[in-house]
Amino acid sequence: MIRIRQAICEQLPQLKNACHALEVPVRRQQLPNAGRPTVEWTLPSALAQQEGELLDSLKKHRFEEAYVEDVRIVPSAGRSAAKIVFQLQPQLFAEQLLQTKENAVHPSPFAAEHIVVEYSSPNIAKPFHVGHLRSTIIGNVLANLHQHLGYRTTRLNYLGDWGTQFGLLALGVQLLNVSDKEMQLSPIETLYKCYVAANKAAEQRPEIAQQARHLFAALEEGTDTTMTKQWQQYRKYTIEDLSKVYNRLGVHFDSYEWESQYSQQHIQGVLDKLRSAGLLQPEHDGREVVVVDGRRIPVIKSDGSTLYLARDIAALLERLSRFQFSRLLYVVDNGQADHFNALFKTSAALNDRLSLEQLQHVKFGRIHGMSTRQGKAVFLKDVLDEARDIMREKRSCSPTTRQNYNLDDEHVCDILGVSAVLVNVLKQRRQRDHEFSWQQALQVNGDTGIKLQYTHCRLHSLLQNFSEVDLDDIKPDWKHFATEPADALDLLYALARFDQSIWQSKEQLEACVLVNYLFGLCNAASRALKRLPVKQESCLQKQLQRLLLFHAAKRTLRQGMQLLGLRPLDQM
Ligand code: ARG
Repeated sequence: MIRIRQAICEQLPQLKNACHALEVPVRRQQLPNAGRPTVEWTLPSALAQQEGELLDSLKKHRFEEAYVEDVRIVPSAGRSAAKIVFQLQPQLFAEQLLQTKENAVHPSPFAAEHIVVEYSSPNIAKPFHVGHLRSTIIGNVLANLHQHLGYRTTRLNYLGDWGTQFGLLALGVQLLNVSDKEMQLSPIETLYKCYVAANKAAEQRPEIAQQARHLFAALEEGTDTTMTKQWQQYRKYTIEDLSKVYNRLGVHFDSYEWESQYSQQHIQGVLDKLRSAGLLQPEHDGREVVVVDGRRIPVIKSDGSTLYLARDIAALLERLSRFQFSRLLYVVDNGQADHFNALFKTSAALNDRLSLEQLQHVKFGRIHGMSTRQGKAVFLKDVLDEARDIMREKRSCSPTTRQNYNLDDEHVCDILGVSAVLVNVLKQRRQRDHEFSWQQALQVNGDTGIKLQYTHCRLHSLLQNFSEVDLDDIKPDWKHFATEPADALDLLYALARFDQSIWQSKEQLEACVLVNYLFGLCNAASRALKRLPVKQESCLQKQLQRLLLFHAAKRTLRQGMQLLGLRPLDQM
């Protein structure tokens, strides 16, 4: 529970770093007397020697409002590590979870840490493919989690608009004689069309590739001002177009960066530093390379133009001075592992204010089979449109779809479709390759985004039926829950594990931890909805306590869904 963590971080600094590795399972003890809610932290082995000392200071620490009734240390036994066990005062435990008024906001112990997350980072010209989709939605969740925990968080999108292939693209624009208007209307599709046309032409006429190289060299040198201006224009259109897809996905960025900002003319200083530090070595063919783990990786081409790695090194160092980050996460597919290894080692060797621990390549595997039913999926927009269309078809066939809802149906179908796609991608461990299936992604009963939305709608509609009750005036009552069917305490304890799932998700950089928690929460809520009726209950006191429980379930589910980037629906 965040509150204990905060108290510990502030008052017992020797535990502050240890907190990062602690687990916070809320344990439910034996019924029927419902036992006592407890929180257990595994004590890192480094601190095991100081058990006695720690216990003394924990006992001396006055936890706010006597929320913690008792603290014990269970010494390590055999292979299981020592644990700190906090026993919570049950009435305050119930109040903290169920009160409808917002908790006072405590300053976060992590506010001084600045986390920069780079994600999405598609290339213009090439379609926004599923790899970029995975980066976009995983990166968004990781940034959300850090922000939620109070870290200072910056979201970056580093768009690829540079490299020799962009000479080809520039040539394609000339070949097809594309008007500015056409480009503005659908820049992503149009740029792709130009790229395909230029590639085709290059296959037939070898001199085209040569021309493309010249064009790119002119771009790099910045000598052709018309072309440079045109390039800026295309980038502007691309961002406008991408923003539409990002909006549908509930994703945003604090800053857009372009690879071209780190073109040859802008990064001479960095290249010179690399040379004088002896990190850049000339090859006999004129290229310059860095040597990382015994491998020679090109940074500068023989004609002096920059490569991907050169631009990334310059971008990283620029980010270090601009953001003074504590950590920089790159959410990019497994395929670029060597690139990031070279990037991190070279940059850390060049700048002694930078350590390898600050840098992390958050890798992920491939998604197979995400295409439309016609077998086409070039653009992400097609996939999202397809999800929306399938949802529309399903709804129109469903006998339970209430036509009298005054809803913007198209909007609801889009949100459901997006939820299905997002959750299907997020529920996998990120390093695994994953087979996407529409059938699986769209089930109401399986572990899907539709299930999260459906449960949220059910809770909303129940609470809506009692909208005249002012829950703010009702005091949660632990004794009541101890006498209810077990489903009530199950749901209460599930709510108590929310903070833990956020913490673990952040620690492991795995959205699936939070996603799986939310599936469990939905199951607990569904069972409770079935076993703890509100309308049919004659005892008013019971009714009110149940409403408080469902109110908290809805609030927690909603918050969890928002952390995943979903827009919780009230009706579907
Ligand atoms: N634009 C690149 C691609 O699509 C990904 C960029 C990843 N980020 C980075 N800093 N290199 O392959």
